[in-house]
Amino acid sequence: MKNIEEKHISVLYKELVEAIEIFAWKQNIVVDCTLWLWGHAEGIIEKLNFWDVFIWFDADSRNLVLARERLEKIENIKVIENIKEISEDRKNIIFINSNFLNLKLELEKRWIKEITWIYYDLWISSVHIDEVDRWFSFRTCWPLDMRFDTSCGITAKEVVNSYKKEKLYEIFRNYGEEPASKKISEAIYRERREKKIETTKDLLEIIEKNSSHPKVKTRIFQAIRIEVNKELENIKISLEDAIELLTKDWTIFVISFHSLEDRITKQTFKKESRDCFCSDMICICKHIKTLKILTKKPILPTNNEIQYNSRARSAKARIAKKL
Ligand SMILES: C[S@@+](CC[C@H](N)C(=O)[O-])C[C@H]1O[C@@H](n2cnc3c(N)ncnc32)[C@H](O)[C@@H]1O
Repeated sequence: MKNIEEKHISVLYKELVEAIEIFAWKQNIVVDCTLWLWGHAEGIIEKLNFWDVFIWFDADSRNLVLARERLEKIENIKVIENIKEISEDRKNIIFINSNFLNLKLELEKRWIKEITWIYYDLWISSVHIDEVDRWFSFRTCWPLDMRFDTSCGITAKEVVNSYKKEKLYEIFRNYGEEPASKKISEAIYRERREKKIETTKDLLEIIEKNSSHPKVKTRIFQAIRIEVNKELENIKISLEDAIELLTKDWTIFVISFHSLEDRITKQTFKKESRDCFCSDMICICKHIKTLKILTKKPILPTNNEIQYNSRARSAKARIAKKL
């Protein structure tokens, strides 16, 4: 595990940890929606007061097991199941092994109706991409799966073997922005009629036969991963719920790595920071703004950070405050 921890570097660490305001006069309820190795959370936990609550979400149960082990070495912490078990002389942690899509439901189950800070670090961790046992990578031959949560949902194998070629084309074009989408979706359709596509290697061979562009593999694998995990739909729903759960004057911080994720964040913030979406003079939507955007332009990593961690180069962060 030490090896994994050494490989992982949190992106925009300083920017996120410094942005989080913790007040002594009220109970802070902070939510980390994408815990992984609690790189960001480790900095935030130090800022918390006794009686505060820190909620740790991750869809991957292994990350929470690892976090629990590490937490044992930290003093003045109490792991609680719900808000009724709060300790007033400790910092309270709640683990939630679930997709952040279920944010509202999972918090309701724990009698939490309001939160003061929430943040997302929206990329699967670098270790997920590198590690040999997570099946997102095309570098090793694995059964085609790609689910974050392997207990439910459809697998990559089902996507490539059962989706219509038009749907595959749309996924590759929209989620991978791949110019050879048509050619590759047609090739998959042809090949799977001969033989089921079972492994990352099978898929890779089809891709390589049809395009020699060095980025095509990454783009096709990324597109399938986004589809398998319904990543974009989940982000949108979760962000809307997060905004609803936030207390007045408190903040949401979103780090994304992909233009599609950033676009969803930007659009959700924009929508919630306007009073009305009606194109006509007369308003029928009756929407009232709930957010103030604090970052007109996204926060980007410094050159220093990019030099140290090249994966940070595509990161963008946006912050908004509940009205
Ligand atoms: C980039 S890592 C977070 C890194 C963390 N902020 C740190 O500094 O150590 C993203 C994590 O989010 C988790 N994740 C991705 N999508 C998720 C989702 N929809 N719901 C919950 N967790 C998710 C992944 O399992 C991964 O552990």
